[in-house]
Amino acid sequence: MIKIAILASGTGSNAKKLIEAAKELHHVEVCLLLTDQESAGVIDYCKSCDQAYEVVPKKGLNKQEHEEKIFQLLKQNEIDLILLAGYMRILSADFIGRFSHPKEKFSRIINIHPSLLPEHRGLNAYEQAFNSDSDFSGITLHYVDPGMDTGEIILQNKFDRLADDTIESFKARGLALEHQMYPYLLKNINENYKNYPAMELL
Ligand code: GRF
Repeated sequence: MIKIAILASGTGSNAKKLIEAAKELHHVEVCLLLTDQESAGVIDYCKSCDQAYEVVPKKGLNKQEHEEKIFQLLKQNEIDLILLAGYMRILSADFIGRFSHPKEKFSRIINIHPSLLPEHRGLNAYEQAFNSDSDFSGITLHYVDPGMDTGEIILQNKFDRLADDTIESFKARGLALEHQMYPYLLKNINENYKNYPAMELL
């Protein structure tokens, strides 16, 4: 069984899709949802469906202390894979290094980014893409490395920017694609569960 933690800071619409999808799969389990935001919308969803969750606010902690708290929770829950779903903090190289399997090339941390990377890295990627002159954008799933949205790309898909789009309609089209892609990847991971031997977190 691949034990998964989802890290989310906001609404958690992707987290919700992942939690729903995991319920139908035999080799993956969302053991924990972790959020750094006490008022994150995703907490209400967790409560509504008995999803285990932890809130780890950053307040009063430096980055290292905050990540250490998170790491200890991952360790206690024997987590094998982290899925970032709108987690608004940059993970340190140290944390990423500790959450990597010694025999694997990439970290065991995956992120979803709302652009066709390497285009529009960083914050407000939908807005960046909408304000560019391109008539399409896309969604990227990638492994997390210490850079800003620079990790190895796993999967990308395009969506159109229509002439009469507003930023809202454009974002909604992208988010609908995100909601297909993340569960699709989870199903793929489930099928290939043998490629994810248990992590030993030190
Ligand atoms: C998504 O657009 C995701 O790509 C980005 O943050 C947003 C999170 O949305 N990383 P939600 O909280 O999953 O609704």
